[in-house]
Amino acid sequence: MAGGVSTPELAAAVSDAGGLGFLGAGYKDAAGVAADIAAVRSHTARPFGVNIFAPPGDADPDAVARYEALLRLESERLGVPLGRPRHHDDGWEAKLDVAAAERVPVVSFAFGCPPRPAVDDLHDAGAAVWVTVTTPAEARAAARADADALVVQGVEAGAHRGSFDDEASGDIGLLALLQLVRAQVGLPLVATGGIATAEGVAAVLAAGAVAACLGTAFLRAREAGTAPVHRASLGTEDPTALTRAFTGRTARGIANRFLLEHSADAPSAYPDVHHITAPLRAAARRGARAQRPRPAAPLGRAGARAHARRVGWGVRGGAVGRRATRAARRRRALALGRRPFVALRRTADHHRPLGGSVTAMPRRKMSQNCSAMARWLIRPRGSYHCGA
Ligand SMILES: Cc1cc2nc3c(=O)[nH]c(=O)nc-3n(C[C@H](O)[C@H](O)[C@H](O)COP(=O)(O)O)c2cc1C
Repeated sequence: MAGGVSTPELAAAVSDAGGLGFLGAGYKDAAGVAADIAAVRSHTARPFGVNIFAPPGDADPDAVARYEALLRLESERLGVPLGRPRHHDDGWEAKLDVAAAERVPVVSFAFGCPPRPAVDDLHDAGAAVWVTVTTPAEARAAARADADALVVQGVEAGAHRGSFDDEASGDIGLLALLQLVRAQVGLPLVATGGIATAEGVAAVLAAGAVAACLGTAFLRAREAGTAPVHRASLGTEDPTALTRAFTGRTARGIANRFLLEHSADAPSAYPDVHHITAPLRAAARRGARAQRPRPAAPLGRAGARAHARRVGWGVRGGAVGRRATRAARRRRALALGRRPFVALRRTADHHRPLGGSVTAMPRRKMSQNCSAMARWLIRPRGSYHCGA
């Protein structure tokens, strides 16, 4: 799990518990990835994996500029400047080189499939290559590229969809996808999305997976680098939704105000949008302000009016009243349980971290350390699972 959640300590703890811990290479430079690999090795002699983002497709600069302009009021409200949009491949070649040079046992990929020569190089370095797929077509492409295993990601999964093409992102549930992929591709399948209990692990094994991959379930582990505000949100019943609002790539996150107000406008433009919103997200982590349902008189009367117009609230005589604008209609649709523009799910007694999925880990288990939790997950069949 990229973004500081999958620490070397977490990856090592999962591996030590009998799973296969993963380091997220995304958002880091190659030197940082190499340092993390060294840190895992200082904690454990067990195998582990590194997850690398495949290079993104092109982004439309005009669409990026339009979204940036829309976010300016957000930036003024929070008093945080927007980040500069940048388009890049996240150090793709350099990270492949590090993974090969460090002889990482398993190298997994999200957002696309490495080309055959890159897979061959990793094989020559002794690595197994796993590719995240969200559709049967992606599974066939990964098999043609000589992947060793497929990480079959259902739409339930927390955070980014691993789809090859964000514009053609698969929205198939895990159980259906496992069956579809298994019918077409003979590779070992690692199931991921919405699994957080021993019974969930047993279910995907029964459906033909050789292992289960869990993300959200580890976000509250002591070893995880999860921000306190995200940890706190684990216990809420807020629904999750798919959105591009935060990074320009489809991801499942908690349906907070920012997500609800910006999903309809957010372009498919990763990592450009990720860089624009990064300071806003950092501020939200510090102050949890993005979670607040309504802004408190942010910019004086003129600013409040401008912001209110933008987000669909009317200002009358200094009071903020509701108006039948698009944002309000979205909220109303949500309240009525309809699907306004994003897929939403609501279930009881679940944890929903920001960027996390809907899963059912009892809170007692969530607060335990990673090793204890991993052993509990492994219980049903002595099989293994992996943390992303
Ligand atoms: C905070 C967070 C960060 C994630 N980062 C990555 C990542 O960098 N690469 C990746 O392939 N998957 C990433 N994932 C997705 C997981 O690998 C996995 O598919 C997903 O968490 C499974 O769904 P679950 O959260 O319901 O367990 C991330 C998930 C979360 C919750």
